[in-house]
Amino acid sequence: MPRTALILAAGPGIGAHCISLFRAAGYNVVAASRSRQESLRAPNHLDLHLDLSKPDTLPELFAKVREHFEHPSVVIYNGFARTLVPAENPLGSISQECIEHDMAVNITSALIAGREAVNGWEQAGGQANGTFIYTGNKQNVMADPKALTFGMAKCAAAKMMWDCSVAYAQRGFRFYFTDQRKADGSPAREMMDPMARAALYVELAADGGQQPWHYTFVKGIGYVDFRSKDNA
Ligand SMILES: NC(=O)c1ccc[n+]([C@@H]2O[C@H](COP(=O)([O-])OP(=O)(O)OC[C@H]3O[C@@H](n4cnc5c(N)ncnc54)[C@H](OP(=O)(O)O)[C@@H]3O)[C@@H](O)[C@H]2O)c1
Repeated sequence: MPRTALILAAGPGIGAHCISLFRAAGYNVVAASRSRQESLRAPNHLDLHLDLSKPDTLPELFAKVREHFEHPSVVIYNGFARTLVPAENPLGSISQECIEHDMAVNITSALIAGREAVNGWEQAGGQANGTFIYTGNKQNVMADPKALTFGMAKCAAAKMMWDCSVAYAQRGFRFYFTDQRKADGSPAREMMDPMARAALYVELAADGGQQPWHYTFVKGIGYVDFRSKDNA
């Protein structure tokens, strides 16, 4: 029986590769972003319109997914907003509008999406096989004052994935904050490989158990535990 993967903020990078790899793995795929409109692109590929700066629209989006396919067993949270501020004075001119926007896109909508995902998985009982993947980075273990709100929200998302990986472990729901690194543990940044990321997401969704919630990985190697380096 096909499963459904929902990609929130599906763009030309991770989103496009997730669409093709999850379809190839036999999933129905729903891709959502601001520039997409509701359209059944193929029998197993639905596009939906979504603006993550409006968290209250997520319940309707999940309902639309269920109208076309079934409740998504895999939810990929790929949205981000990165407002830059002066690195030497990040608080000096930050606007309330920027704070509210970046928090809505980077974390509030992730919480609402998590709630919608889990409530559907609870209804499916032991059959849910639910996986929630938040596209993270190294922001939760490094300083980067010029991206203050972005980094703050990534920290909050990491905490959400950590807490939920504990809370729902017995029910078999899995939560990940993924973080691509270079081999020396530094952030992947411009080396971030959307194809490797999408391939990892298909693997994590297929895996029956919870792997480390903070999934630090190096392209071509896989999971690498950088905790001692990160804490040094
Ligand atoms: N080291 C690392 O682990 C690392 C490094 C770099 C990046 N990253 C992470 O990778 C993610 C982005 O990668 P990507 O290659 O997929 O980027 P991408 O190809 O630019 O896709 C992101 C998509 O998000 C959509 N989007 C933006 N704001 C939105 C909103 N308010 N509501 C709905 N959709 C929205 C945009 O589409 P529309 O314009 O159609 O809305 C955009 O195409 C981010 O989470 C970033 O932090 C991680």
